[in-house]
Amino acid sequence: MKIKNIKSGDYDHILKQPRPGHADWVAKMKFDGFNDHRGGGHFSGRLTLALVAAGVVAKKMIGAIQISARLVEAGGNSDIEAAIARAIEEKDSIGGIIECVASPMPIGIGEPFFDSVESMLAHAAFAIPAVKGIEFGSGFAAAKMKGSEHNDRITSLDGKTATNHAGGINGGLTNGNDLVFRVVVKPTSSTSQPQQTINFESGKLEELMIGGRHDTCIALRVPVVLEAITAIVLAGFMA
Ligand SMILES: Cc1cc2nc3c(=O)[nH]c(=O)nc-3n(C[C@H](O)[C@H](O)[C@H](O)COP(=O)(O)O)c2cc1C
Repeated sequence: MKIKNIKSGDYDHILKQPRPGHADWVAKMKFDGFNDHRGGGHFSGRLTLALVAAGVVAKKMIGAIQISARLVEAGGNSDIEAAIARAIEEKDSIGGIIECVASPMPIGIGEPFFDSVESMLAHAAFAIPAVKGIEFGSGFAAAKMKGSEHNDRITSLDGKTATNHAGGINGGLTNGNDLVFRVVVKPTSSTSQPQQTINFESGKLEELMIGGRHDTCIALRVPVVLEAITAIVLAGFMA
């Protein structure tokens, strides 16, 4: 099959004008021009295709566990469509928050210390380009809560709890409640706005206008990838 929908030429400008917020500048510094700049090369979101493919296999290895991720917020707005319409109108890009839930969870998946469920999920989630943060259960909101509020009351002998501020993990191990975590995806760095950058050839600062095809909100594409990495991590623990 010949793939025709390729526009590598859209990326030629990257060779001399690194896109602010993207990996072009640092890639040139580290690989001295030996990186593939077309489409962002190995920094491209396209590489998540391999994660999704692996996730299909991993989902078959985790028994009854169902994984579901969804975009819960874009550009700070729970009305995703309105947020995106506005960003398109403003010729800008926006980020988002994706929540992932895995259920029903077996008790005791994970290891203490380096291979905690949080560590392994974070390790895999940060392989997804543009992911900038992760939180489990009540996450960063826990800093403002009292212990009496944050502690999940145990309501049955099988460890079920009245709330799930722990996100289904204690001590790095799954506790049998739903595994719940969220990731933050930054706004797409390629926008239709003029941006200041450096010209590698002239050494001068100049304005960059990015052409080509770019997403207003990459976060829209991330739920399926997040489900895949969750399946891969759980399959790794359960194998
Ligand atoms: C599915 C997907 C699609 C992406 N598409 C774009 C894009 O169109 N334009 C862009 O600037 N970044 C895009 N990115 C993000 C860049 O790949 C990423 O920001 C870049 O590699 C720098 O890495 P960092 O943001 O993690 O530091 C995409 C990411 C994903 C996961």
